Amino acid sequence: MTAHGARALPVTVVIFGASGDLTRRKLIPALFSLYTKKRLPSELRVLGFSTRPLSDADFREHVREQALAGQPEVTSEEWRSFAACLSYRPGNFTLTEDFAALAAQLDGLAPDPCGRLYYVAAPPDMYAAIIGGLASAGLMRAALGWRRVVIEKPFGSDLASARELNRLLHQVAAEPQIYRIDHYLGKETVQNVLVFRFANAVFEPIWNRNYVDHVQITVAEDLGVEHRGKSYDRVGVVRDMFQNHLLQVLSMVAMEPPTSFNADALRDEKHKLLAAIRPPTPGEFARSSVRAQYSGYCEEAGVAPGSQTPTFAAVRLLIDNWRWHGVPFYLRSGKRLARKVTEVVLQFKRPPHLMFPLPAGADITPNILALCLQPDEGIHLRFEAKQPDSLIELRSVDMEFHYRDSFGVSAIPEAYERLLLDALSGDASLFTRSDEIEAAWAWVDAIEAAWRAPDAPALQSYEAGSWGPVQADAFIAADGRAWSAGCREHA
Ligand code: BG6
Repeated sequence: MTAHGARALPVTVVIFGASGDLTRRKLIPALFSLYTKKRLPSELRVLGFSTRPLSDADFREHVREQALAGQPEVTSEEWRSFAACLSYRPGNFTLTEDFAALAAQLDGLAPDPCGRLYYVAAPPDMYAAIIGGLASAGLMRAALGWRRVVIEKPFGSDLASARELNRLLHQVAAEPQIYRIDHYLGKETVQNVLVFRFANAVFEPIWNRNYVDHVQITVAEDLGVEHRGKSYDRVGVVRDMFQNHLLQVLSMVAMEPPTSFNADALRDEKHKLLAAIRPPTPGEFARSSVRAQYSGYCEEAGVAPGSQTPTFAAVRLLIDNWRWHGVPFYLRSGKRLARKVTEVVLQFKRPPHLMFPLPAGADITPNILALCLQPDEGIHLRFEAKQPDSLIELRSVDMEFHYRDSFGVSAIPEAYERLLLDALSGDASLFTRSDEIEAAWAWVDAIEAAWRAPDAPALQSYEAGSWGPVQADAFIAADGRAWSAGCREHA
């Protein structure tokens, strides 16, 4: 029995969209890793369901290489015994008879009482059909045992479509049966934001407007749109990264302390935070955002010629509550930037009075706390120290913690491992609830509307491999601040 208590019933995981990339690159490798760690239910079956006509053997072969890639030390026997749990069923997401046949097969595989996890990993335009199929075949009903559905991102493309998806889901499942994925919540370092804040007594008292000057959240990627040009071009950076990952990280950093680590207590606080973000208004928003596209984006496969889709955005937002009143949060994300790095930086206020003489024109360097979420996972605290053998010269120094030093290099599992384990054990804490998703989309819709306004700031351009457009530097400089080098300074 695992700490999650996931072993109690025989379990079948049904993956809709099993022949796709996500299943091969993330889901099966995560399940296999959990299997080798003996964290899965002892009676587990994984059934792939997708349109491609594959046999069980084809499916196993299709997923084998990636599953083994992350596990150099596993034996072929371990793979063989895991692979024996995998099967595949070709089917059409829009045909009720295919879902009825699936239901019959599932009843044959493991009759009630059993647990079933339906993982919707198909293209988003198939979500509604799959939910309809689950309903028509009665797949969410269980006389005994449990039924849960995991839905991948993107969950909708705006507030209206997210609401419609929530409405469809709620027709077949109760909210506690629904697990909406944001894989950033599965990252150890994102969960550690809560531990850092709420398992230590020293940080929380200064985690507010009295001490924090501003907060920066950066999710930079060095890769471009790769093979996703067509779908990315319809979405852009705000829908692809801000609506989910950046706002989820923001809510972990800025929410009030929940009373317990329980799904609803946590999600109540996250929702309250998201609902407190001041909605951007068109006139004001021109001064609080920059959007840009990397040069060469329009030549990427699948991207429309002359596309105006932003691949970079920087946004200043304010949170209307007591803790954060007047503290700007600067969020930025982009593709084809200098490096892949995800970090949160809290810059503290300057000391109110300085007794040390500074050279003419010099200013004191404010304290910085940098939470490095990836890839060099760790935490840095920058503070001032006296330069030895000087009269009273100050120098910034860094106090650092690295996961690799404290816990070993292989300590950090893939985000999907934790999320799959939680979904199997019925813990929805790290999944987004319908009200959170809708609050996030309301903010994104307001941004998109502000960018469509006639006086909206123009789309800028930036060189691939840079840190984004110069306008993003000018935008934060206009507030008397600068983008922090954060963890990059120390890597
Ligand atoms: C996905 C986005 O959700 O997250 C991608 O659709 C992005 O565009 C990816 O590349 C980033 O995830 P990670 O875990 O590599 O930071």
